[in-house]
Amino acid sequence: MPRIYNTLIIGAGAAGMMCAAHAGRKTLIIDHAQKPGEKIRISGGGRCNFTNRNTRAQNFLSQNPHFAKSALAGYTPDDFIKHVEHHKIAYHEKTLGQLFCNHSAQDIIQLLLDDMSRADAHLQLETSLINVTKTESGFEAILEQGGKREAITCYTLVVACGGKSIPKMGATGLGYQLAEKFSHKVTETRPALVPLTFDGSILETTKTLAGVALEVTVSHDKTSFDEALLFTHRGLSGPAILQISSYWREKQPIKVDLLPHLDCFQTLRNERTRAGKRALHTVLADFLPKNLAIEIAKQSHLTGNLADQSDAKLSELAKAINHWQLYPIGTEGYRTAEVTLGGVDTNGLHSKTMQSKTVPGLYFIGEVIDVTGWLGGYNFQWAWASAFAAATAIASEKK
Ligand code: FDA
Repeated sequence: MPRIYNTLIIGAGAAGMMCAAHAGRKTLIIDHAQKPGEKIRISGGGRCNFTNRNTRAQNFLSQNPHFAKSALAGYTPDDFIKHVEHHKIAYHEKTLGQLFCNHSAQDIIQLLLDDMSRADAHLQLETSLINVTKTESGFEAILEQGGKREAITCYTLVVACGGKSIPKMGATGLGYQLAEKFSHKVTETRPALVPLTFDGSILETTKTLAGVALEVTVSHDKTSFDEALLFTHRGLSGPAILQISSYWREKQPIKVDLLPHLDCFQTLRNERTRAGKRALHTVLADFLPKNLAIEIAKQSHLTGNLADQSDAKLSELAKAINHWQLYPIGTEGYRTAEVTLGGVDTNGLHSKTMQSKTVPGLYFIGEVIDVTGWLGGYNFQWAWASAFAAATAIASEKK
């Protein structure tokens, strides 16, 4: 006789564990990894940026920008913060509403494991899903653990397999395959929150400056972010670049203002009047990291000191600093991307419950859905909120 569960959750990541903790009796959660919540463990530099106080639907990319609203309103950052406080996990706000554990991301994993054990959810690791089929009353799944196969039946199937980013951490794309198997559309997927790569002279510059970081405004079309940029051996990274990578598309430019909030042209003119004998790179170093100032002065091909520069030359230099336009050749891909953009088409899901509109009892939660957050704790908040929406619906169903 197959084991019978109310709910089978595929994927013991952030969303899957949150769902298991709230979905009610007889829940089985499986993962092919050796440990649950591996992405939580490495998130936020090991401290897990577990939510963002300022979470709004505007902080997410999706083909339907309204889809996330209901779930985000049903389980807010405050709800998760209260929970974190209840578990006596010390945390701090870094910037822009981003909350991190003081001690370790493991605290969040333990919180979820404790919740799951209180809810009597059964966690089965190193287990693969071999097949799943729809039955009249629910689903039949074939699982494999340690070479042994077992059939189980369940009324509700929750797909919480995450996206494709960081295959080394267990990402497989199974969630998209399951969606397609049950005739759900999957929107185009691509790496997001990912460093951008360059070639030619820009790459030479980024290599020369590798390790230099500064606060910038980076923009693409009408979207812009004020955050830090980091020069690397492959191109550009840092929060500002990761953010804009979710919006950037091949062959399009991004724009970087290396001195936001400063009218560079006017500043250079004023400085020319005040201290014209100063060398260009020393003046630039008043505002920019020294190595970057030297590189910009070198690439400007302007000889002499500040007093030798005409308005036209200063204007050109200022433009290169305030309006640097550059064309990435690509991204570092899923190897380093923090998330996957796109996913299970929201048109096929109920926004209040995450349940399939066409297959009763089938749910998708977390990153596998076409809802992708900005950098800064938004993606975990989506995992908590979408999982809670599904779990509440599952728990309220009479079996
Ligand atoms: P998640 O990826 O967490 O879980 C999916 C689970 O499914 C995994 O346990 C996986 O092993 C399992 N699985 C996959 N395929 C399977 C298969 N074939 N069979 C069985 N199991 C399978 N976000 C944020 O808000 N704040 C942050 O600080 C960070 N930091 C961060 C750092 C890094 C390096 C990365 C890569 C990502 C982040 N993120 C983040 C993003 C965040 O980690 C991500 O959005 C959530 O973990 C998504 O939660 P899910 O549960 O949907 O997927």
